Amino acid sequence: MAKTLKSPKKRTAFTTTVFMKRMMAVSGLVFLFFVLFHAYGNLHYFQGELEYDHYAYFLRTFLQPILPFGGFLWIFRAALLLCVLAHVGSAFHLWARNKRARGSARYAVKVSKADHYASRYAMRTMRWGGVVLLVFIIAHILQFTTLHLTPGGHYEHGRAYMNMYYGFQLWWVYLFYLVAVVSLALHVWHGTWSALQTLGAIRSAVIPYVRVIASLVALALLAAFMSVPTAIHFGLTDPPLPAQTYSQQAEAHGINWNNH
Ligand code: HEM
Repeated sequence: MAKTLKSPKKRTAFTTTVFMKRMMAVSGLVFLFFVLFHAYGNLHYFQGELEYDHYAYFLRTFLQPILPFGGFLWIFRAALLLCVLAHVGSAFHLWARNKRARGSARYAVKVSKADHYASRYAMRTMRWGGVVLLVFIIAHILQFTTLHLTPGGHYEHGRAYMNMYYGFQLWWVYLFYLVAVVSLALHVWHGTWSALQTLGAIRSAVIPYVRVIASLVALALLAAFMSVPTAIHFGLTDPPLPAQTYSQQAEAHGINWNNH
């Protein structure tokens, strides 16, 4: 197709677009692995308070003493931040390019009305879903990582189980997470498909399988992420331990924040 673009300006624009699409696909797939891992990790909540907090503590001690305390988590955060910047940056670039293209060649490509509306619907869902997710991620980090937002109670660093327990007592916190996770599932459902298509991994023979796999992954994310907030909100999990009992039992579970 590049051969048909005669002007060097058009060729450069085409190459940039292909690069942006690939960057979006790769950063999106990295993010997908992160959310799958995160959703699975959250299921440790059902094992109980000390087991769950131990998991959060483990993420900070992982690869010690090769790395300092929290070192692995910081590398991981830096990689995630890079992916978010790449994903949002390429989304913005492609959105601006589409807007320009629509202005000059609105009727250039003939597609059926149904296809036209389907693709516009998917694009809108992706765009607004992406904005919801971005707002969610910022609020989520302020709530559970930095503890600047503490709806529902007095949060403490290191007591992830307790912080979540307090937060999800409130209906609006629960609703906010539900909206974000549904947006994530829709984003993943459409995004997995687009990413594999961009990376050239889709041949007509595998299309039905890709559709089924993308739907299953999106549903699994929805179920895994929402199971914990739902259980907490509807009173199916144990309340957190009193401070003294917790500090007595934490060390026996290998959790020792005082050493760091
Ligand atoms: C119901 C769903 C979710 C729950 C209950 C949840 C819970 C948590 C908790 C408790 C932490 C803090 C972990 C720690 O301090 O070790 C955390 C961190 C984080 N979560 Fe979630 N999460 C959910 C969904 C999501 C989603 C959908 C995303 C992304 C789209 C996400 C992205 C993150 C990020 C980026 C961090 C920060 C990791 C760090 O830097 O420490 N979470 N989450």
